[in-house]
Amino acid sequence: MTTSANLFIGTALALLVITALWRLASRRHSLPCPVWLRWMVELDNPFTKTNRAAFIVEQLGLEPGMSVLDAGCGPGRLTIPVAERIGPSGRVVAMDLQSGMLARLAERTKAAGLTNVERLHAGLGDGMLGHERFDRVLLVTVLGEIPNQAAALRELFEALRPGGILSVTEVIFDPHFQPRGRLTALAVAAGFHERAFFGHRLAYVMHFEKTGGRGPFPLPDRGSAAVDRPEIIFQ
Ligand SMILES: C[S@@+](CC[C@H](N)C(=O)[O-])C[C@H]1O[C@@H](n2cnc3c(N)ncnc32)[C@H](O)[C@@H]1O
Repeated sequence: MTTSANLFIGTALALLVITALWRLASRRHSLPCPVWLRWMVELDNPFTKTNRAAFIVEQLGLEPGMSVLDAGCGPGRLTIPVAERIGPSGRVVAMDLQSGMLARLAERTKAAGLTNVERLHAGLGDGMLGHERFDRVLLVTVLGEIPNQAAALRELFEALRPGGILSVTEVIFDPHFQPRGRLTALAVAAGFHERAFFGHRLAYVMHFEKTGGRGPFPLPDRGSAAVDRPEIIFQ
């Protein structure tokens, strides 16, 4: 084998080992995505449709005036399009554990002229979210970074209004990827009902509802089918 082939295999193996160790360590300690990698978090992944901001936002059934929590917002890849969609009468609370992420978000909201984004420097599980404040909650490639996931999901359940939707995105390229079965078990244990699934097992968006509101929320486009038959799978 050539030297360059050996180098390639060695680098790939090293990356695999680092990813595996990082995943294991994340189960016990908070090891969030480093702030110096925030430039990468701002980019949409060209390979996975379900991880793109436009796709995630499109499925949320947002209306002007809504109140939305972007939990683990990072530099605001989702916060900005959500804030634009709900307009000045709405409000996005952008929450992150790391001040460096929120500083970048502040620059971006200022550049976009948005006045409806509130930054919250706190961690999920800290009990900072209050009771029945939000119509939608976003949790995009964040869950695997949280050591106490059950407590985090209970907090999000409490923070949603009845009829509100929790939207969770996971993608296999993320070292903290969470499989669908684990997410569903955690969400159901927290009190949620599964409403919709978009994508496939390696890259997906799932919606969970806190029931008790005005009834099933309207999904755009494939909406009525999604409510009757929550499974929506595509490649
Ligand atoms: C991979 S980034 C995703 C950012 C954004 N959701 C996106 O998709 O563009 C994960 C973010 O979650 C934040 N995070 C990790 N654990 C958290 C926790 N317990 N509470 C709040 N934010 C957290 C990290 O600081 C990081 O900014």
